[in-house]
Order: sequence, then C-alpha cells, then structure tokens
Amino acid sequence: MSTAPALELTGLERHFAGAGGTVRAADGVTLTVGRGEVVGLVGESGSGKSTVGRCAVRLDEPTGGTVRINGTDVTTMSRRALRPLRKDFHLVFQDPSSSLDPRMTVGEIVAEPLKLHGIAKGEAARARVAELLGQVGLRPEHADRHPHELSGGQRQRISIARALSVDPALLVADEPTSALDVSVQASVLNLLADLQRDRGFGCLFITHDLAAVEYLADRIAVMYLGQIVEQAPTSELFADPKHPYTQALLSAAPVPDPVTQRTRERIVLSGELPSPLAPPPGCRFHTRCPLAVDRCRTEVPALRTLDGGREVSCHLVADDGTAPDAAAAPSRTIPTTRTATR
Ligand SMILES: Nc1ncnc2c1ncn2[C@@H]1O[C@H](COP(=O)(O)OP(=O)(O)OP(=O)(O)O)[C@@H](O)[C@H]1O
Ligand SMILES: [Mg+2]
Repeated sequence: MSTAPALELTGLERHFAGAGGTVRAADGVTLTVGRGEVVGLVGESGSGKSTVGRCAVRLDEPTGGTVRINGTDVTTMSRRALRPLRKDFHLVFQDPSSSLDPRMTVGEIVAEPLKLHGIAKGEAARARVAELLGQVGLRPEHADRHPHELSGGQRQRISIARALSVDPALLVADEPTSALDVSVQASVLNLLADLQRDRGFGCLFITHDLAAVEYLADRIAVMYLGQIVEQAPTSELFADPKHPYTQALLSAAPVPDPVTQRTRERIVLSGELPSPLAPPPGCRFHTRCPLAVDRCRTEVPALRTLDGGREVSCHLVADDGTAPDAAAAPSRTIPTTRTATR
C-alpha cells in the first residue's frame, strides 16, 4: 500500500473566465490530507471551499497547480485514464437528492461502484450492499426502495454507503449535513466519525459548522477569498487562533458555556466578502481587518510556517507565534451582550 498522502494539493488554482472578468475562486491552495486524517476546510460563503473540493476529486478542472491522490498526479488526467482510479476518491454532497439517481433502487445505487470497478457482482454484490446498509444504520430491505421513499438523513446515509462501498482512500464531504434537519445532523456526523475511525480513509470535510469541524477534524484550514490564511491542528486553532480572520470567524460561533459567551468579545467584520473578480491588493483581508496597517494594504503576506508548525499568512503574526488580538481593536468590536448573535 502506498504511503503517499490521500490528497495533496499544490498551488491549486481554479479561475473562471467570464465576460465580467476572471473569478479567482481558488487562488494558490496548498493542502495535504494524510492517510486516515480528517482535515476541516472552513471559511465564509463564497471563499472557494466547494471549488477546492470539486477540483480535489476532479469534478472540476483546475486551471493551475497540481492535484495528487494517493501519490498519483491526476491534475490533467483524461476522464478515461481517471476511471480506474475513481475508486480511490469520492465526494459526498450537501444535498444527497441531487447525486442519487431517482430511477435506481437503493441497492442498485450502492452496488454501482462495486460493479463499475469489478469488485463484486451478483450475489456477492447483494451481500456487500446489505452489509454496507447495516454499517450506515439502515436495514437490508431498504435496498428495494427508491431514493424518494427515504428521508433526507437516510438518503445521505445511502450516499455515504455508496461512497465507501469501494473503500476509497479519500472522501471529500462538502457540507454533508447542512441540508438535513437539525435533529438528524448529529447522527450523520457520528456515523461519518465512526466509519472514518473504523476504515481510516482520509477526509476533507468542508463545512460552516464550527462545532462539527471541532468534533471531527484533526486539522483545520481556514479559507478567505480563494486562499488558505491559517492552518493548524484543531485544538490549537480553537484555543489560540492567530489570524485576525480566524479570530473573527471563531468569535462569531456560539460557545456552549454561557458565561464565556457573555463575556467574550464578538468581532464584527465590516462589509461583505470582497469580489473574487478583483481581490484587494496586499493582504486580501485588509479591507475588513480591524488591525490592518499600511503594509497590509500593499504587501501580500506569504503563508508562513511558524515555530510550532502551524501556518498563517498575516504580517502582524511573529514567527514565534505572538499574534495581535482582533477583539482588542475597539473601533470594530461590539460586546456580545449587545449584539446577541443568536
Ligand atoms: N462555475 C463557476 N463560474 C463562475 N464562478 C464560479 C463558479 N463556481 C464558483 N464560482 C465562484 O467562485 C467563488 C467560490 O465559490 P464556492 O462555491 O467554491 O464557495 P464556497 O466557499 O463553497 O461557498 P459556500 O459556503 O456558499 O458553499 C464564488 O465567488 C462563486 O461565485
Ligand atoms: Mg460550497
């Protein structure tokens, strides 16, 4: 078995050329998902997370950089050359209905990758499907139903069973629970966590849900306007976010402890996410950063590796990890007690 990472993105670019200009949806993303590792990808809407996820499984064509899966460079591989490798990586979408063929039965849907890759057919495939359905908490008789006869949570379990039927090295999960009823989100997350622990596949977990990513991910990458601005092991990132954007993102999330919630400063970012058609010069975050200084408006900060091994792209963070506190910039902060986040 190969020891290469499940996924290796190097300088990944996905630019969309259009009449209005070029959308820099992903603009130099370098990210590794190790074997058996769960990496969370977070950032506000439009930051480029899905674009990265789609390029990672070659559902979209990168316009620059490289994508390696299991050590194989798949960046420019033709669909045909890619076909036998397809069993190594899968994407689970936000909305399971869109990825499940309504004319097929659940059994056919889950068995399809097994047949496509010549892993099992006939009775062996049926037995494997029953086993997989059991592993995702469904019963063997669900195999005869059609997707529309199932609940949203059950449909998402089917897409997970289908993705895992061929034992992929990499699973990209793009907001796998956000279309589901809140009451079933936790059970689908638990299922993913259990399966990941048992099977040890690498997982790129894309989400807005910071509690979910804290629970599931070993490491987190924070995206802003097509680029990664900070990357760190999950516990370190939550305990001590370095980048002002990460600090703002985490400060907006509800904390379970009501005392912390009341006393904590919420950082309110001014304005909307700038257009990826014309990213601001210098640090892309400077237009909304409460701490920006002149240098930030002109000089692009490199994504640097700090002494402890975490990565951050901010001029104001020192190599020893000393970082300013965005919440201490009085002009842009409002105490939570007055803004009542939710
Ligand atoms: N096919 C496309 N053509 C042009 N622009 C696109 C295309 N796909 C995505 N974009 C743009 O690229 C940017 C990143 O989009 P993407 O869907 O990757 O963001 P995201 O972080 O997944 O957002 P969300 O959290 O809302 O899902 C957005 O500005 C989006 O409008
Ligand atoms: Mg998305």
